Parts: sequence; structure tokens; C-alpha cells
Amino acid sequence: MKDLQWLIAQDAAHHLHPFSNQAELNKHGTRVISHAEGAYIFEKDGRKLLDGMSGLWCCNLGYTQPRINAAIAKQLEELPFYNTFFQCTHPRVTELATVISARAPEHLNKVFFTNSGSEANDSIIRMVHRYWDALNKPKRKAIIARVNGYHGSTIASASLGGMGAMHEQFERLNGIHHIPQPYWFGANTTLSPDEFGIAAANELEKKILELGPENVAAFIGEPIQGAGGVIIPPDTYWSRIQEICDNHGVLLIVDEVIFGFGRTGEWFASQFYRVRPDFIVFAKAITNGFQPLGGVLVSDRVSDALLSHTQEFTHGFTYSGHPVACAAALATLDILSEGYIDKVKAELAPALEKYWLPLAEHPLVGEARCKGFVGALELVKDKASRERFPGKGRAGTICRDASLEAGLVMRATGDTMIIAPPFILDPQGVKDLTEKAWQALDLAQRQLQ
Ligand SMILES: Cc1ncc(COP(=O)(O)O)c(C=O)c1O
Repeated sequence: MKDLQWLIAQDAAHHLHPFSNQAELNKHGTRVISHAEGAYIFEKDGRKLLDGMSGLWCCNLGYTQPRINAAIAKQLEELPFYNTFFQCTHPRVTELATVISARAPEHLNKVFFTNSGSEANDSIIRMVHRYWDALNKPKRKAIIARVNGYHGSTIASASLGGMGAMHEQFERLNGIHHIPQPYWFGANTTLSPDEFGIAAANELEKKILELGPENVAAFIGEPIQGAGGVIIPPDTYWSRIQEICDNHGVLLIVDEVIFGFGRTGEWFASQFYRVRPDFIVFAKAITNGFQPLGGVLVSDRVSDALLSHTQEFTHGFTYSGHPVACAAALATLDILSEGYIDKVKAELAPALEKYWLPLAEHPLVGEARCKGFVGALELVKDKASRERFPGKGRAGTICRDASLEAGLVMRATGDTMIIAPPFILDPQGVKDLTEKAWQALDLAQRQLQ
């Protein structure tokens, strides 16, 4: 293999990185991750790191899964590619659609495949428009989303997302409206979390009434905002959102790109929060991150309407339902069904509560929160007032680098530290992870003072 300095120099010369300040990155050189094993990644010529983020929220079964590798290899021999256009299918895509439908809430029985979460959200906009056209209500076009939500990086999905820094860099799609997020800590409110949850959900109703219900097509939200900072809505939030969507005939889209396939301890977060979405968006963990695959689960009422159109649905991707990706997904879902979902619920989520929540006692931490198998820490200068450190994101970056020093991959979103560890850890592994997080906080505190 090429040596480290060669890789760093050539990377700077030829590789444009996603979500990176490229000039800044080129100055100090990228980190090169050369291999991985179990829950660990290894930097070339460098550190062994416990991957507290499961890659990019996708390698939920860690990096060593020979059965997924074997399924990929076998599929490459049997049928490396065929498309699903022009009235064709192949065994793996049909098997996968069947398995996903069986795991999903009962009323979702059709699957449309894409290569990513972004494409899945783009596809949903197309389907939502087709749905309302089929019902002869073509005026229903507006989609309501949330500030600081993340739904992907294509123009359509980034328009659905509520990331200000992204919106500054392109012209957004019309007809997408954003309401405040259910971020109790960030709101610094006198309301209790439960009261705040209702108030935040009521923002949806306010927006529907402002736009006119006859113009509103759908509401989209992540069950827990991931990239926005693991923002866990108060327990009252989702049931009120469901009620509002039902009352105004608005379709509900739950973007489970992070939370689908077990992260809450249920197959889908919609089951965890007891909502009845019209669409569930998935990607990432469906193949354990080993192949690119995303898609949309569609409810019976929506698929019935879509099927009532006499013309074809003029939408799809060359690699929709790619056989190799589907084979990887089938193997992944097989492994997940061998006790991992129950393990998240019965062992990992309780262990995270036990070991992660006490991090709130650290002087840098304004709030420690977790749900299922994700966690977040809010870094503050002053616990009582929740005052942040100067220079938004600086404390987070310092803590992220300190975390690498301590041997742990934690991600920083502004001044919020987040984790989504792989399900292959055991409770002792969760304890070790939080001990590293504590060390990271100590190191960061020294630099921040
Ligand atoms: C909730 C959510 N939706 C959509 C996406 C976009 O998925 P992809 O990066 O596969 O396009 C992401 C990616 O992180 C996500 O977290």
C-alpha cells in the first residue's frame, strides 16, 4: 500500500471531500482510515479508535460481518447487475421488499428502492405529488419540515432539511416550509419537557392553518433529529404530531434513515413512537453500510392511490434495487433478526442510560441525554445559565479532537457531542465508551479554560 504521506498529498491534490472545508483540510491533511475490525477503526500508521458513530450511523453491526461479505460475493457471481425497469425484477429485490414489508408496521407494504437517503426523500416528493393528483386535489403541494432537520444533500432533500448553512449555498425548491424543532434544551424555556413537546408540535398546526389545509400535502420529520444534534423530542411530541396530521388530512413522512432497523430497540422508530406514517424513509443500516441502498416504505392508502393512475410513474434510478446491495441487505436483516433488536432494547439502551447520563455531572456538560442507542452531550461554559463557549462550534471541535486522543470517535454538531455506537458492544463496552468520553471532556476542559 502507498505510504501515508503519499496518500495525504494525493488526496489533497485530487479528492474533493463531502461536507468539508477543503482548503482548511488540505492545509493539515486528511486522516487516513486504513482498516477496521469489529467496533474499531484504525488510522493508517496511527491510532486504534472505538467507533462511537458506527461509521456514519450505518455500520450498526460493526465492521466484521463475514455473512454480509459472503452474500455480496455470491451475488456478484450469480447476477452482478440487472435493472428493475421495463417490467423486470430479480430474486433479491423481491425477497428484500417482502422482508422489509414484514418488519414494518402493518399498513406499510410497498417498497421503492433508491441508492441513498437523499434520493429516497426526493422520490417521496414525487410520490406525494402523485398521491394528491390521484385524489384530485392537485393544490395540496406544500410540505412542512423542521428547522435543523436533515434529510439529505440533493437539492430536493436539502430543501426539505432545515440546515441554514446548507440553504445559503443553493436556491431552494419552492413550497417547503419550516417550523421550529422540538429542542427543549436549546429553547431554554420555563415549560416542562412535556409541555414544550405539545407546544412544538402545535407549531405544525399553526403552519397548516396559515398555509390553508387545502394546500398542505405532507409533514416530514426525523423521529429523533440525528445530524442536527441527537435532538430527542419530548415524549408528548409525536402523538400530538400524528393527531394534527390526522385532523387536517396531511400525509406523515417519518425519515428513519438513521433510526430504522433497530436503533430505538424496535425495527422502526415509528413503532417505538407509535405513529402511523404514510412513508418511512430508510437507508444506511439496511446494508450495515457495506453497500449503498436506500428506499421508501409506502402505506397502503398511498400505494392504492399511486396504483390508480393509468399512466406510468416516470421516476427511478439505474441502480434502484441493485442486486448486490439487496443481497447485502438481506444478510444484514437476517443477522439483525437474530436477537440484535431485542438486545438494543433490553441491554444496550439501559446500559447507555446507566453510564451515559452521569456524564451530566462533568463541569463541561449542560445536559446528557440518550434514547435507544444514541446519546448526546451539550457542552456549556456555565451549567446554570446554559451559556455556551464563545465561537459557536469551537468547543465541539476541541472536544471531538480530544475524543480521538482518548481513543473514541464522537461527532461534534456545533457544541453538541453525539454518539450512535454499534450494536455489537455489550454493557461493559458501553461503560468503556463512556469512560473514554469522560477522558475527552477532561482533555477538552483543560484546553477551553
Ligand atoms: C435522517 C436522514 N435522512 C437522509 C439522509 C441522507 O442520506 P444519504 O446520505 O444516504 O443520502 C441522512 C444522512 O445522514 C439522514 O440522517
